Amino acid sequence: MQNLIVSSDESFFAKKTALLRGPDPRQRAWLEVDPKAIKSNTQNLISRLSENCSLMAVVKADGYGHGAETVSKAALSGGARSLGVATLQEGIELREIGLNCPILVLGNLVDSNELLACLEWQLMPTLSSMREALICQNIAKSKDQVFNIQVKFDTGMTRLGCELGDALVLIKAIDGFSNLKLAGVYSHLALVDGAFEGKAEEITKQQNNRFKSLFSQLPSSIIGFARHLANSAGTIRDNSLHYDMVRVGLALYGYNPIKPINDNLGLQPALSVKARVTLIRKVPEGVGVSYGHKFVTNRPSLLAVIGIGYADGVSRSLSGKISLLSNGNVYPQVGAITMDQMIVDATDHPDIQVGDVMTLIGHDGQTSITANDWSQMDNAIPWEVLCGFKHRLPRVVI
Ligand SMILES: Cc1ncc(COP(=O)(O)O)c(C=O)c1O
Repeated sequence: MQNLIVSSDESFFAKKTALLRGPDPRQRAWLEVDPKAIKSNTQNLISRLSENCSLMAVVKADGYGHGAETVSKAALSGGARSLGVATLQEGIELREIGLNCPILVLGNLVDSNELLACLEWQLMPTLSSMREALICQNIAKSKDQVFNIQVKFDTGMTRLGCELGDALVLIKAIDGFSNLKLAGVYSHLALVDGAFEGKAEEITKQQNNRFKSLFSQLPSSIIGFARHLANSAGTIRDNSLHYDMVRVGLALYGYNPIKPINDNLGLQPALSVKARVTLIRKVPEGVGVSYGHKFVTNRPSLLAVIGIGYADGVSRSLSGKISLLSNGNVYPQVGAITMDQMIVDATDHPDIQVGDVMTLIGHDGQTSITANDWSQMDNAIPWEVLCGFKHRLPRVVI
């Protein structure tokens, strides 16, 4: 999905822009993505890495909802050496826009046509079994090419990856396959995010020990591949998890995944969510608002209707919990969030106007609201909030 590029100082009804590029995307509701924040976060994270460790920017799910093209280019300009995607299609889209860095497909590709497409687009598949390795070898041999692949083994996540013992056999077999080049061997941490005590710390240590133990069992002749284990939390928490590369997602987008969050480490959230006031209503005391009348005015009230709803990715379960910001004021959201709109109580700030921009996530003066704040109100995680914004919302690069 291509992002729209709009300079931040354009006026709302800039007719010239509208004529040149079509209607201004910032008419109803939109996301603003700041590539400078992504670049700065990348540099910040790289400065924390152990020597000889590189950073893979994880840009799956359309760059965690920010727009994969914008994020990939910004991260690469900040020093990321490679990109991680979840699906073949996501990888192909990055190649189509001309990115030629190493790209790893983190999801499992099982079909030989998908693996063939991987070879043709120069994407590295993740292999978790001998079956996939044999398919890749056959495809590469038939094309007389060398196929860069990576092996994943499970150290405790119990998702993708082969067993530790099988990894040894698989890697030795791949080493003997003339058309396969082992570019990386990796695993994924299960409990390093969030609060880190007792079980979480113990299991992370155990995963790290299992990870190390594989390499101590490999013949020294098998060399030249990158070992990688850490996600954002692993990268931030412990340098002994860094190895040759780290795969960073959430932190790149400006969020520290480690709880409790005492320090955002200088990371800057790169995404803001904005929407406009579309109607202002004066209502008396005792009026029920929105579906189910879950909110009833307890005073004569000024209500503002905002053009964004759950079909844009603002979860209905946030109804009555969030606030919106505008011109230095805080507006509590009231009543049920509906598919395309929500309502705020503007009684305490009656100077509000139709067309005013409201910030749902982002800064307004000294105040800011983050995806973390929403996730805490909604029993969710910031990853989920960021990836939840739908493509009905234009992504505007500022
Ligand atoms: C295999 C793998 N590595 C790295 C990441 C990045 O994780 P994070 O966003 O916590 O940095 C993910 C994300 O889910 C992943 O699935």
